[in-house]
This record gives sequence, structure tokens and C-alpha cells, in this order.
Amino acid sequence: MAVIDQLTSQEAIDLENKYGAHNYHPLPVVLSRGEGVHVWDVEGKQYYDFLSAYSAVNQGHCHPKIVAAMTKQAQTLTLTSRAFYNDMLGKYEKYASETFNFDKLLPMNTGAEAVETALKLCRKWAYEVKGIDENEAEIVVCENNFHGRTTTIISFSNDPIARKNFGPYTNGFIKIEYNNLEALEDTLKNNPNVAGFLVEPIQGEAGVYVPSEGYLAKAKAICEAHNVLFIADEVQTGIARTGKMLAVDHENVKPDILILGKALSGGAYPVSAVLANDNIMNVIKPGNHGSTFGGNPIAAAVAIAALEVVKDENLANNAQELGDLFRSELSKFIETSSIVNSVRGKGLLNAILINDTEDSDTAWNICLKLRDNGLLAKPTHGNIIRFAPPLVMTKEQLLDCVSIIIKTLKEFES
Ligand SMILES: Cc1ncc(COP(=O)(O)O)c(C=O)c1O
Repeated sequence: MAVIDQLTSQEAIDLENKYGAHNYHPLPVVLSRGEGVHVWDVEGKQYYDFLSAYSAVNQGHCHPKIVAAMTKQAQTLTLTSRAFYNDMLGKYEKYASETFNFDKLLPMNTGAEAVETALKLCRKWAYEVKGIDENEAEIVVCENNFHGRTTTIISFSNDPIARKNFGPYTNGFIKIEYNNLEALEDTLKNNPNVAGFLVEPIQGEAGVYVPSEGYLAKAKAICEAHNVLFIADEVQTGIARTGKMLAVDHENVKPDILILGKALSGGAYPVSAVLANDNIMNVIKPGNHGSTFGGNPIAAAVAIAALEVVKDENLANNAQELGDLFRSELSKFIETSSIVNSVRGKGLLNAILINDTEDSDTAWNICLKLRDNGLLAKPTHGNIIRFAPPLVMTKEQLLDCVSIIIKTLKEFES
């Protein structure tokens, strides 16, 4: 049976529709090449990528340094499993642990796996260090969270589409309002079995909700006062996306458990990680947890290169500066706009709120028009469009993108 070679966009879409499960609703554009901030479709049309694979491609598409590290390692040693040592994993664990100032790293592959790992680590710590009775530990999570797609993670989601008909659900989670310190304080006061507080420093999937200034620092202090682990899910916000290496750095917060994924590999390979200090991480013993691919030599080589690129190219500063520029340019437009209500975000993780009902298809139609005008973005929820370009963008490119966005939005002004 021959594998099909050249395809038109429509043929590629038809193939996915026929042979692939329908678990996504992609924008109709078929990409076949990427470089830096640009991607090209199979017909050769060039676009600005304003999603960056949900913030995985922070370092830009096919960054030469990351691709070189991956290629070299792929030609040398790809996978040993953790049954044996390999000569890359320790180097990577040291480099990443020192970068984020933790004692240890536990390597996994996807963001959801890393979240699962953090939950298991937190529970084990609860029983073996905090002294909670077996099977009684609770983890506090936030409403409208997004932490991935596993059975346990969707158990504490409140998105009906992600949850419905996937039960029975996993117990042991208490949901509170995001950005509500009183709710956190009350919950911890009234529940001595709480072991951890799992939080996104900015809620990305929910629509780029930035909490009030001071929320993270105060939440961390509340957790400390109750001997509860502060678990930061920086899968989307981490690795320079918001203008600092981590979003918690904006408030000088050091999480007890840090979860990373996506841009930890620059989008080249599935690489995720959980970081913690010894007093927490040492509860994990051989056999407690693992993954055939987690910590493989390619992942290790790719992650070192991806982190080096972020530092060498000063991507956090670039995200900070371009993010400020993006919001100020769009705010000027919004003052006179009837189609956009607001722009919000931090660094280069931003969103605009379209002036229409949540169930309208206006945001989707705007994204189709943006595509026609050479820029790719997607609605998050209903009438919210997320804008998250690669962080290697230049100021000129950003201003070019702003003019595409404004020109497109003007087409929708009533
Ligand atoms: C905050 C957060 N956590 C976890 C995940 C899950 O990552 P993955 O899709 O790699 O499993 C995501 C994905 O968007 C995310 O945004």
C-alpha cells in the first residue's frame, strides 16, 4: 500500500476527516513548513504563526540550534528506556534544575503526564511527609482550569465538553474560584487534608485570564501557612512566554512543584518535566512512577538546546517588550472599535475579547479572515481569540502583524 505523496490542502483535510478521529476542529489551513515566526501551507502561502502550537514553539519554528541538537542525538542514540542510564539525561537534569533553581527534575513527555506526575508526587508527599491519613489527601484546583486530558485531570475540569460521558471521575479534588484568595484561605482552614494547590499562573485555555497583581504571591503565602504545596502549572505560561522565564517570576514566587512542557523542547519533541526540591521529590522511589520515553536522550538534548536558545536570545525580554507594544497598539484601536471589547495578557500571551455572544461564530470568522490575510490564530473559548506568536519575533514583524489584525477586525466593524 503506497503512502500518498503530494496533497492539496483540501485533499489533506479530507484524509484527516476520513481516517482521523474527530477530536479537534482545526482552522482549515494545511501547513507543510515552518521557519521562525512563519509557516507555509501546501500551496506555498506564507503566514505569521500567532498561536505557536499553544505556546510550544516559543523559540520559533525549526530553530537551527534545536534541530541540530535533535539531529545529532537522533543519529547517536535515541532511546534506552530508564532500564539503563544514558549519557544525556543527567546533563539535562542538572542544566534544567539549575536553570529553575530546584534540586531535582522528573522527566516526562506531555504536559498532561507532567500534571499527573505532580499530582502523584503531591499525594505521596501528603502521606509520607505531611502525615495525612492514607487515601484522604485533597488537592485544591481552580474553576475553569485547563491541565490536560487524562481521566484524572478531566475529573476536576468544569468544561462540560471535556468531561461529559468520561466518568466515573477521580476523587480528591476541591474546586475554588480562580483569583479568589479568600476562597483559598477558607478552604485550607477548613480542610486539614489538603496537600496541594494546583494553579495556572495565567489561565491560558480559559481565555488568557490574568489574576490580580499579588494573587500568586499571596496564594503561595497562604499555602505555606497551611503546609500545603503550591503547584504551578507553567506548561503554557513558562519558558519566557509571559516576559519572564516563568510567569510566577513576575511575583518572585518559588513554587514547591513546578510543571513544564510545551516550549521546554521548543516544539521540536514532546518533552515535559516536574521539578521540586529533595524534601518533596525524594518520596519517589524506584517503581513508583515512570515512562518508557521520559528522559530519553533526544528529549534531553533537545531540551538543553531549547533552554539555551531562550537564554542566549533573551526571549523573555523580547516577549515583555513586544507584549507591551502589542497591547498598547491594540488598545488604541479598541478605543474606537465596536467589534473588540478589550485586550489582555502578559508578555506575548494575549487575547482579545470579541464584542459578541459566547456562542456566536464571529471569533471563528475573524480567524478565517486573519488566515486569508496571512496570520494564523484561533478562538479559545467562544468569543475570545488568543494571540501567542513565537518569541523570536522582531518589532517590525510584530507591527506588521498588528496592522494585519487591525485591518481584519475593521472588516467586521458594523
Ligand atoms: C496549563 C496547561 N497544562 C497542561 C496542558 C496539557 O499539555 P499537553 O497537551 O502537552 O498534554 C496544557 C495544554 O494546553 C496547558 O495549557
